[in-house]
Amino acid sequence: MKAVYIHIPFCKSICSYCDFCKVFYYPKWSHQYLLKLQEEIEDLYDGETVKSIYIGGGTPSVLSIKELEFLMDIIRIFKRSENCEFTFECNLDDIHEEMLHILKQAGVTRLSIGIQSFQKENLKILGRNHSFMEAKEKMALIRSCGFMNVNVDLIYAVPGENIKMVKDDLKLLLKLQPDHISTYSLMIEPNTLLWVNGVHPIAEELDEEMYETICKMLEKKGFIHYEISNFAKEGKKSIHNLTYWNNEEYYGFGLSAAGYIEQIRYTNTKSLTRYLQGNFKGTEEILSKQDIMDNELMLGFRKTKGVNIQEFEEKYNVKLEDAYPIKPLLKNGDLKQKGEYIFINPDKLYVMNEILLKMI
Ligand SMILES: C[S@@+](CC[C@H](N)C(=O)[O-])C[C@H]1O[C@@H](n2cnc3c(N)ncnc32)[C@H](O)[C@@H]1O
Ligand code: SF4
Repeated sequence: MKAVYIHIPFCKSICSYCDFCKVFYYPKWSHQYLLKLQEEIEDLYDGETVKSIYIGGGTPSVLSIKELEFLMDIIRIFKRSENCEFTFECNLDDIHEEMLHILKQAGVTRLSIGIQSFQKENLKILGRNHSFMEAKEKMALIRSCGFMNVNVDLIYAVPGENIKMVKDDLKLLLKLQPDHISTYSLMIEPNTLLWVNGVHPIAEELDEEMYETICKMLEKKGFIHYEISNFAKEGKKSIHNLTYWNNEEYYGFGLSAAGYIEQIRYTNTKSLTRYLQGNFKGTEEILSKQDIMDNELMLGFRKTKGVNIQEFEEKYNVKLEDAYPIKPLLKNGDLKQKGEYIFINPDKLYVMNEILLKMI
């Protein structure tokens, strides 16, 4: 079964660090956008059952009630599996009762909230503004509306941040009792406001120390560290995101959305003008068997559980150790093996990319 990603590119304000495909929210554009999105979905979707739907952005929650209802109508086209995970990304200040009811009625099972930080200094640099009290109230409202699976995003390694601030952020985040936490080290991407202003990343050693602090603290609090940046309570791993890391197929609909169908990886246009004209396609790449195997490892090793040797062999008709230099990496401790799984040494997760480079 495939997964479905839908991109809503509108935001009320633009954050200083954000490199995602987004534009200011103008009702004139958003209405036209939804009409085109419907056209794209109806053209491409072939009626099969899907196991997850993820509406991300941008900020999907910025849509008006009418637009939200229309979006949920569009999505009704998808035949959903019995346990279909349906995630909707929200910003704190957009969350209100009427919106939550519409989402609940439409079958949304999981909310993902961009909190990022509670530290005043961090929020100022990131260009965001909310308080812990606001988050607490919104979380209570979310729970009272019956949402039992909530993810929160955290950004760390903000210039000026220290370990105490990371710990304080985590303590507050944990008070919200989320089911899932995604943590990201701040990337200063070209053409973002931070980059234009010449802001530099923090020292790598401090970044690593912060990452280790987060991993330790969350594991102590009963979260399963199942992917390099993701932590979940028992039974709350993201079905949708696991589709990516398992190198499985998914549709991508909307501006800039990426998809992977029948050995083709595609990315839609990033131009809103072109999208609104109905020119949805951007780039497309037909993958060779070697590309697909490389992806299987690059994505699979993001999971702490790693890659299943047996499944790899059955899928590609080649032994993992014949296709890649697995043995020397097991010998030098970069990789570990437990039963049928080979995984990155947990002590070396932070340098995962270097290990992958040696392998691929
Ligand atoms: C699609 S984005 C934003 C979703 C939502 N609009 C919001 O602002 O919370 C998903 C997540 O990626 C992370 N992110 C975005 N840009 C980042 C950057 N430059 N460095 C690190 N994390 C980033 C943030 O944690 C963000 O919540
Ligand atoms: S971080 Fe979220 S709200 Fe901020 S600009 Fe990016 S998508 Fe929009």
